[in-house]
Amino acid sequence: MDRVLVTGANGFVGSNLVEMLQAQGDEVTCLVRRGPQLARLEATGARLVFFEGFSDREAIRRAVGGQTVVYHVAGATKALRPSLLEEVNEQGTRRVGEACAEQADPPVLVYVSSLAACGPSRPGQPRVERDPPQPVSKYGRSKLAGERALRALADRVPTTIVRPAIVFGPADVDGHLMFRSVRTLATHMNVSGRRHQFSLIHVEDLCRLIRLAAQRGKRITVDETDDTRAVGCYFAATEETPTWPEVGRLVADSMGRRHMIILTIPKPLAWLVAGTIEAYSRVTRRPLYLNWDKTREITAGSWTCSPRAANTELGFTPETSLAERFRQTFAWYRAAGWS
Ligand SMILES: NC(=O)c1ccc[n+]([C@@H]2O[C@H](COP(=O)([O-])OP(=O)(O)OC[C@H]3O[C@@H](n4cnc5c(N)ncnc54)[C@H](OP(=O)(O)O)[C@@H]3O)[C@@H](O)[C@H]2O)c1
Repeated sequence: MDRVLVTGANGFVGSNLVEMLQAQGDEVTCLVRRGPQLARLEATGARLVFFEGFSDREAIRRAVGGQTVVYHVAGATKALRPSLLEEVNEQGTRRVGEACAEQADPPVLVYVSSLAACGPSRPGQPRVERDPPQPVSKYGRSKLAGERALRALADRVPTTIVRPAIVFGPADVDGHLMFRSVRTLATHMNVSGRRHQFSLIHVEDLCRLIRLAAQRGKRITVDETDDTRAVGCYFAATEETPTWPEVGRLVADSMGRRHMIILTIPKPLAWLVAGTIEAYSRVTRRPLYLNWDKTREITAGSWTCSPRAANTELGFTPETSLAERFRQTFAWYRAAGWS
């Protein structure tokens, strides 16, 4: 049993992680902002430490104190202004790392980064951890900056980085849009090229991998040369790398829908739609999943990564196939009453 802290505990990945850690017997503290999204977390009975955001160093220190493992899951995935990505994903991550470094006996720190920090891959050539990172989006650059902030502290804090590919599963608000489109409109939107492939991971598999990273993962080092870049860094993905139309087929199969239209949107139209949504979100002051920065990623090519390091060093294998995971996810949405 560990005493652990989870940041981002009320988000999609964080809420699943809290439930899994508790089920494994860990004593869980959550560092969260007050807001409407706390009901599921409060029901777990985990200890909650509230803060205003990552400028609140005192609350971060209080939450980190006495923990044996810190899972830094919080991250801005969409933002109305790009500086927010930097504030949360770079500076916020640095502050969590600094709070760990201040401890007499620093906890193990697992940072949930992203494949976006590394950038797209060539078709048929999944990215491996030692590849030089080449992010294409502001989000990806901010996640990479978070990794580098922790690398600077790596001589004081035992740190492991997990870089998930696309995550799906229970409580995923953004992924639900895709299920809803297939269910209600029998339509799956595709912006990517025909040969472009994608790595994915189910959130429960990801949570298992994250815990294994804390227990058995190698730790990153201060320098980031070709030889050391891969140490302590793990992509989180399955071996399967479907194209985006194939992902649509998995969604349709999960709900037993035989006929579905794959609506391929040409790139110029995708940019036009993204620009319109971006303008709408600025007016309504609500950041939305599809925006200019996300379109940079979607149109960049394949996004695949190799799960081999996690497999050989952490002993991680996904519990079941993507097809089964999509079926489970649809069943969860239906049981939870998500339309
Ligand atoms: N979902 C994916 O496909 C995916 C793929 C690769 C990597 N990741 C990474 O996985 C992590 C979790 O992602 P997710 O999908 O679970 O996202 P999510 O559902 O949007 O959750 C994000 C979490 O971060 C917190 N957060 C965001 N901005 C914050 C701020 N300014 N101050 C304090 N807390 C803040 C949120 O708290 P509030 O509710 O208070 O905003 C929430 O708890 C992120 O670091 C993301 O980069 C996700």
